[in-house]
Amino acid sequence: MTGKKVVIGGNWKCNGTKESVKELIETLNSAGDFPSNAEVVVAPTALHLGMAVDGLRKDISVSVQNLWKEPKAGAWTGELTVDLIKDFGINWAILGHSERRAYCGETPEIVGTKVKIALEAGMKVMACIGEQLSDREADKTMDVCKEQLDPIIAAVPSGAMDRVVIAYEPVWAIGTGVTATPEQAQETHEQIRAYLKTKIGEEAAQGVRIIYGGSVKGANCQELIKKADIDGFLVGGASLKPEFKDIIACSS
Ligand code: G3P
Repeated sequence: MTGKKVVIGGNWKCNGTKESVKELIETLNSAGDFPSNAEVVVAPTALHLGMAVDGLRKDISVSVQNLWKEPKAGAWTGELTVDLIKDFGINWAILGHSERRAYCGETPEIVGTKVKIALEAGMKVMACIGEQLSDREADKTMDVCKEQLDPIIAAVPSGAMDRVVIAYEPVWAIGTGVTATPEQAQETHEQIRAYLKTKIGEEAAQGVRIIYGGSVKGANCQELIKKADIDGFLVGGASLKPEFKDIIACSS
């Protein structure tokens, strides 16, 4: 990974009280200068977006964890549309997270629709892909990743690929404490990039940030980030702790 900004994402998932979010914002604001090549993005719950937008230092971007599959506000009870999200000054979206694919019926096609809506609205996306343990054990990892990647790639308007970050998150590593080894992660990232080359060409594929998610901690990020095709992280549990500062620092 050369010349590209390293994306360090923090997915807070469905966590946080007003007090804990206030403390986390204060911790991040006091973290000192970030490495110049780090692009730091945090994704609070919808309840805490306003606190994050208003309270965080300006070199930390705020992301939604999802958005609705229609672009305009209206009769979509319980949903957030891109026009309202953008109005709040939020320009990032995590889309296609494995938990939404598993629990919310998000098919690869629905994820592709959401990616298209976000990009057409000028947002940046962290589009998540990743296999179940059974897929890996059956040597189907790239089959699954390609099935998930295809609608994402097809959704990207001309010239917008630089606003797409692919987050490879092996489901078996999410929240389990079982992190993919640097070699495992690099192998799949390399395969993802090779596949991207066949779809969008060499130069564009080299420019896409492919970030790793799945039990990233302060203790393992240094070894992971050394790998050529790991361009950053999407962090869950550790992003809610002061340890997230260490993960940001490892991008230097
Ligand atoms: O989106 C990031 C998340 O799925 C990873 O979670 O807790 O394994 O870092 P965690």
